[in-house]
Amino acid sequence: MSDPIDREVQQHGENSIQRELFGTRVGFILAAVGSAVGLGNMWRFPYRVSEGGGAAFVVLYVVLTLVLGIPLMLSEFAVGRRTRLSPVGAFKREGGGAWPLVGFLGVLTGFLILSYYSVIAGWVVRYGIEGMLFGFAADPGARFEQVTSGFAPILYHIAFMSLTVVIVMGGVQKGIEKASLLLMPALFSIVLGLAVWAFTLDGSGAGYGYYLTPSFAELLNPTTLAEAAGQAFFSLSLGMGTMLTFASYLSRQENLNREAATIAASDFGVAFVAGLVVFPVIAALGLQSQVSASTVGALFIALPGAFVELGVAGRIVGIAFFFALTVGAVTSAVSLLEVVTASLIDEFKISRKPATIGSGIVIALVGLIPALSLDALGLIDTLTEWFLAIGALMVTLFVGWRMRDPASEMLEGASGLFANIVPAMLFFVRWLMPPIIAFVVFWTGRNFIGTLVTTFLG
Ligand code: TRP
Repeated sequence: MSDPIDREVQQHGENSIQRELFGTRVGFILAAVGSAVGLGNMWRFPYRVSEGGGAAFVVLYVVLTLVLGIPLMLSEFAVGRRTRLSPVGAFKREGGGAWPLVGFLGVLTGFLILSYYSVIAGWVVRYGIEGMLFGFAADPGARFEQVTSGFAPILYHIAFMSLTVVIVMGGVQKGIEKASLLLMPALFSIVLGLAVWAFTLDGSGAGYGYYLTPSFAELLNPTTLAEAAGQAFFSLSLGMGTMLTFASYLSRQENLNREAATIAASDFGVAFVAGLVVFPVIAALGLQSQVSASTVGALFIALPGAFVELGVAGRIVGIAFFFALTVGAVTSAVSLLEVVTASLIDEFKISRKPATIGSGIVIALVGLIPALSLDALGLIDTLTEWFLAIGALMVTLFVGWRMRDPASEMLEGASGLFANIVPAMLFFVRWLMPPIIAFVVFWTGRNFIGTLVTTFLG
């Protein structure tokens, strides 16, 4: 027990730590699930599935969530709870040398993701509000063009960022935990309700077929593998220190293995059910061609197109859908901003309020670029996907080979089966994950350069 925090906790108990902790286990889980569940589940997952050949992608995604996602989440948890610090400080304390760079990369990645995430969330808010006031537009393709161009996206982006800043300013218990306790159950019920509604639509059967019957040739395609891994990192909020930061607010009694499994299962659950909404609706209305263009806009064009055709019921369901999407986006954006804010607080001893407002303003300003250009948005998305893979690789190498006795942290608070799987987890982290993730780094990097070239050279 040479660790100063461990010693302090031993002598004076958890409350002696000068760091705000989550108030309840459920609060922590909902905040972490809130971070994981967002636009990644309802907007990105379905369009990735349709790019990746349908059900085969889903199967691969589940496998990767188990062999990469859960052990990686456990690794971030272990580093965060051991050090009780946000990424930069955590890697400085546990690793020394050049390791803090991993923390910096994480903060930069969070910063960049939030800058465009907030822009998309702004579109979502706008669809919701306009759906409520005027209904959904008859020509959804043209509507999407309007929603994403001109100056209005900037206003919605700034409004969304302001909401995120207000919640993060409230701190861990009063801000993040409280918002999640309220919002996450609402989101779950709405998404489930939507799936039931989709089931009742005539002609939805083909959608289930596409979504649930895998063609196994696709499983061997390296692009599908890399995209599924990238999607898993994004959706589980891994690879930039979000889960690390949340775990820094966690008590030593918490069972990290069980929480990682619970969070991954909930995240997949929502993504899967979102697919049970999107694919049947698309099939019922014959909108396949709009989606197979598989652009950023697929969901925003196909679904409102369906809502408008389905009359009053469609309008109500549509408003519910965009409300749920907004909820998911808010709790995810909160977790992204928290990483940046917590790093400022920990590293420069700034207090929470100026740290939150300051980083919020800078991120909002950088977000003006993706707000004005869809090309820029796509470019930042592929760049950050690469950064997440690099971060994920570094975290596995760190926990597997650099951190001293990671097993002790993973075992703290765990019992039964959850304690027994720790050696297997560590084996994965040391030997199995680095080569797979290294391949993903290579592939997403290639993908970024490809996007860069096509964006600038046509
Ligand atoms: N996981 C969130 C989603 O699916 C987005 C998100 C929040 C995120 N925090 C993150 C993605 C950290 C990558 C890293 O919408």
